[in-house]
Amino acid sequence: MTAAPEKMLLKKDLKEKRELVNIEIDRFLPRKDEFPKQIHKAMRHTLFAGGKRLRPYLMIHTYKLFRDDINPILSVAGAVEMLHTYTLIHDDLPEIDNDDHRRGKKTCHVLFGSDIALLAGDALLVGAFNALYGSELADDIKVKLIRELAVETGHRGLIAGQMADILNEGKKVSRETLEYIHHNKTARLINLPIRFGCYLAKAPEADLKRMTKFGDKLGLAFQIVDDILDVEGNSQTLGKTVGKDIKMQKATFPAVYGLEKSRAMATRLIEDARKLLVPYGEKAELLDMLADFVLTRKF
Ligand code: IPE
Ligand code: IPE
Ligand code: MG
Ligand code: MG
Ligand code: MG
Repeated sequence: MTAAPEKMLLKKDLKEKRELVNIEIDRFLPRKDEFPKQIHKAMRHTLFAGGKRLRPYLMIHTYKLFRDDINPILSVAGAVEMLHTYTLIHDDLPEIDNDDHRRGKKTCHVLFGSDIALLAGDALLVGAFNALYGSELADDIKVKLIRELAVETGHRGLIAGQMADILNEGKKVSRETLEYIHHNKTARLINLPIRFGCYLAKAPEADLKRMTKFGDKLGLAFQIVDDILDVEGNSQTLGKTVGKDIKMQKATFPAVYGLEKSRAMATRLIEDARKLLVPYGEKAELLDMLADFVLTRKF
């Protein structure tokens, strides 16, 4: 468990990095009154409704294990967050999870209608690729990031996970299927910015391997905790409706293993993830605190 002063340090640093990323995202987006303004308003609504900016944070701090100047990589962090936000807008649609609240606000489709929410998600998805293209990076690294983003979030990645999530509603799933869903729908997009941080810093291959393992464990734990919070979390704090997974008979860790075992599994994954950071010493201090936050978070 992280001590109180460490919690403050993490909180302060999360806020600082969130602000940097928000500036970057704001730069990418059209003004909200630009024609056709409904789409630009809708894109901005969910992006700036809130959000932990966890994926950019992971990218920035993985990069910082190897290099200091984060300015050249902030545009990539912004692109990753835009892509993540698209997944949330689409995930909340009536045809998928049918959620009314996200990031403490009404969901995009509730405010703007499903047609506009669908397009806002599309626009953020393609916008993420455009932002990567427009970043001031060397062409070879740009191509690598663009390709990896497409693969990880495509029909054999995140979309496969979302597909399996939908197909298994109301079914008794095997442990393998459950892990397949969580790995694909969530862990991949947690792992990806960690790998991006390694590529951008030109980290040695051994570090890329180590940090990929870290990302896998952190990503799975993140979704297990998300499942747990859907059972015992507080809507207000979480910024989204709780109890939805049981209602929709989703394939979740608590449904398959029970709450206690799920908690133990997440704890174990985070312990293992944190061990992988040991060789980086003090440089990994904030990543280590973040790993603890993933386990103990209430939002
Ligand atoms: C929510 O992700 C979607 C899942 C993958 C469980 P986050 O909990 O990171 O959402 P924001 O970005 O902070 O709103
Ligand atoms: C979401 O999983 C995964 C993606 C958005 C890709 P959930 O459906 O559990 O996420 P929440 O609980 O709605 O944030
Ligand atoms: Mg979902
Ligand atoms: Mg959902
Ligand atoms: Mg959930």
